[in-house]
Amino acid sequence: MLEQLDQLYRESLETLRAAGSTAGLEAWYRQALGRKGQVTLITRQVGQLSPEERPAFGKRVNEIKNELEAAYEARLAELQAAELEAQLAADSLDVTLPGRRPWRGRLHPSTQTLREIYRIWGDMGFQIYRSRDVETDEYNFELLNIPQDHPARDMWDTFYTTTPGVLLRTHTSPGQIHAMRQYCPEPIRVILPGMCYRYEQITARSEIQFHQVEGLAVGRNITLADLKGTLADFARRMFGAERQVRFRANYFPFTEPSAEMDVECHLCQGAGCQLCKYSGWLEILGCGMVHPTVLRNGGYDPAVYSGFAFGMGPERIAMLKYGIEDIRYFWGNDLRFLEQF
Ligand code: PHE
Repeated sequence: MLEQLDQLYRESLETLRAAGSTAGLEAWYRQALGRKGQVTLITRQVGQLSPEERPAFGKRVNEIKNELEAAYEARLAELQAAELEAQLAADSLDVTLPGRRPWRGRLHPSTQTLREIYRIWGDMGFQIYRSRDVETDEYNFELLNIPQDHPARDMWDTFYTTTPGVLLRTHTSPGQIHAMRQYCPEPIRVILPGMCYRYEQITARSEIQFHQVEGLAVGRNITLADLKGTLADFARRMFGAERQVRFRANYFPFTEPSAEMDVECHLCQGAGCQLCKYSGWLEILGCGMVHPTVLRNGGYDPAVYSGFAFGMGPERIAMLKYGIEDIRYFWGNDLRFLEQF
């Protein structure tokens, strides 16, 4: 019996040394010294021994238990140290390595242009007024002096919804009516940015959706000179102090008189180039004095109040500013395009 005990001891010591990890060591412990472990089981055989043999056997069992415990503790400390060492080595940080640059997004060129436009108009005392993308025929057309069957409706190819009289705004001008009805009879200085939608063939020069930034000033003594001076100032702030501007007469149903503003081509300084189609000028916005009917629809008495309005396209301005040839790039989500801004 004592021999059996010694053999078990030797074997256990051997398998203990073979345990290569703390997990393996725990398994070993359960097998050797656990409640159903080999050493525990062999102790139970004490009953088979004669009374004389028992004390020697008991003593030996205790010795073996203690020694195996001690060996286990020592091995455990060893393995834990080794495992910690390995983990530290794996996690080690080489502080001399060059840093990795995190991938940074950037603002879409439309957003950049919009923000620049907001900043300039903000500096000139204009607040941002947001209005809705889904409009009624009444706001998008009728209140802007474009009745049903008016031939000027052809200027805006429209996306209609399945609900009669509800459409996607074709321009930001309906916001003029919303702003006037909200502020009347206070004076107004706002810009109205937003997405517009037109049912058009998509080409290099026309998209079915694009931004506009509308502007509206209403007050008691606003004249055409204010319109010209304010817009010319905007153009200088946007395109450079030396840029010349010119106004060309035009027609819009909601302004009278109406005009379009051109800026001197910044690429050729007005000499004529491909960008300006050899005219020396780039068209950037439509504008005019708010039509009396529109003022009245907004709640203002045209005998007392006057105002000017304008509408510009940030994508168009960005195209002119950066020489972008195709408007389809804006919503194409091609990183090769977007990363250039
Ligand atoms: N709404 C016009 C357009 O979409 C632009 C415009 C706005 C013209 C305000 C005059 C005044 O073309």
